[in-house]
Amino acid sequence: MSVSLVILAAGLGSRMNSDTPKVLHPLGGAPLLAHAMRAGSMLAPERVVVVTGHGAEAVARAALAENPEATVAHQAEQLGTAHAVAQARPVLSGFRGDVVVLYGDTPFVQSETLERMQAARERHAVVVLGFEAGDPGRYGRLVMAGDQLESIVEFKDATPEERALRLCNSGVICADAVTLFELVDSVGSDNAAGEFYLTDIVAIARQKGLSVGVVRCDEAETLGINTRAELAAAEAAFQARMRAEALENGVTLIAPETIHFALDTVIGRDAIVGPNVVFGPGVTVESGALIRAFCHLEGCHVSRGAQVGPFARLRPGAELAEDVHVGNFVEIKNAILDEGAKVNHLSYIGDADIGEKTNIGAGTITCNYDGVFKHRTVIGKRVFVGSDTMLVAPVRLGDDAMTGSGSVITSDVPAGALALGRARQETKPGLALRLMERLRALKAKKKEG
Ligand code: UD1
Ligand code: CA
Repeated sequence: MSVSLVILAAGLGSRMNSDTPKVLHPLGGAPLLAHAMRAGSMLAPERVVVVTGHGAEAVARAALAENPEATVAHQAEQLGTAHAVAQARPVLSGFRGDVVVLYGDTPFVQSETLERMQAARERHAVVVLGFEAGDPGRYGRLVMAGDQLESIVEFKDATPEERALRLCNSGVICADAVTLFELVDSVGSDNAAGEFYLTDIVAIARQKGLSVGVVRCDEAETLGINTRAELAAAEAAFQARMRAEALENGVTLIAPETIHFALDTVIGRDAIVGPNVVFGPGVTVESGALIRAFCHLEGCHVSRGAQVGPFARLRPGAELAEDVHVGNFVEIKNAILDEGAKVNHLSYIGDADIGEKTNIGAGTITCNYDGVFKHRTVIGKRVFVGSDTMLVAPVRLGDDAMTGSGSVITSDVPAGALALGRARQETKPGLALRLMERLRALKAKKKEG
């Protein structure tokens, strides 16, 4: 059975107290929306519809960044979850498979759970994902009769007896497209919130004699983010899961509780990660690499055998080939370091190509920015860049070249050449001693006076 996804992401999320739409707040370095979309993508959906409203442009951009094939449907006014689903109808016209409705603010739903829901569709026209809540709070309550779900009652509309129910609505619903839109059409707004509740489709389906089933999952999966505190708790839960997965996959984390991962972090087996390392989005680390303490990595690739840190920063576009060494207080951005290259101390390497086995001395800076444009520094193989070299880009250093320490290199250096770009040293014999004598005498005289 083919599947399409409808992801509801139009709500304001007023309890976040934010100018940013709720679904764009980051969790593991990726917007909440991306988490929901990723879980759904495991079903290999035929169509993906993201319903936008508040902050529609930004939400649409995030949706397309996560899945360029997704279609955005705009809900101009947020009249409720059923109304939101109805906005997806034009995009799903002619689609005859199942529709899975997900919420953009519910990041932890597992794809296996969605698969279980799909399987349950063989027995039921509509399948709802439910969970036993520790504290049912304001969740919609699931009213069961045997194994049939009779209705979902929103907290605001629930009687005290209904509020006592612990089986709650996660919000995830699965039905075939035709049935879903027929049911949604029958939903009214005669309730405490004056909204078109998607949850009402359950009672309507039952009135029509359709079977409605519940698939249960762990409460942790259905955690919806409504406040900053919930976002922080979700981040902690996400990090705990990523750490456990990394350890399971054979990565050594010396102090797991201090490592921060992003949704897409990939780390190979037998890599070693020291304490207090942050992985921003887009990082891959190959097997056997060593990331020492206090490094910050984002949008970069670290190959097998490479060593990074402590206290190194790899920014987007940093590509470290095998056995590259990047040491303490080194920042690398948009630069390719070929096999065995070394940048061991206190350097900034930006917009550069560094050839294999090249050694970059301490305190080297690629001066890549002229205030308007960025320029590239291209350095060949086996080059020795002396300490404290300023490489004023655009500039090229040929294979086997050298620069003298403290040089400011403004023109290309041919292969095999030594370039010195610094003031010539002058040495005055005995002058240091004479100078100090004079200064000390001056000090003694001042004390007397
Ligand atoms: C909803 C459910 C509730 C369930 C809970 C789980 C309804 C009526 N209630 O309540 O049973 O226990 O989720 O977290 O469905 N949205 C739109 N357009 C709208 C309204 C909402 O896109 O007009 C989106 C929101 O952005 C959000 C999702 O739908 O992603 C859920 O909306 P929200 O207002 O948070 O619903 P709850 O009151 O939490
Ligand atoms: Ca909610």
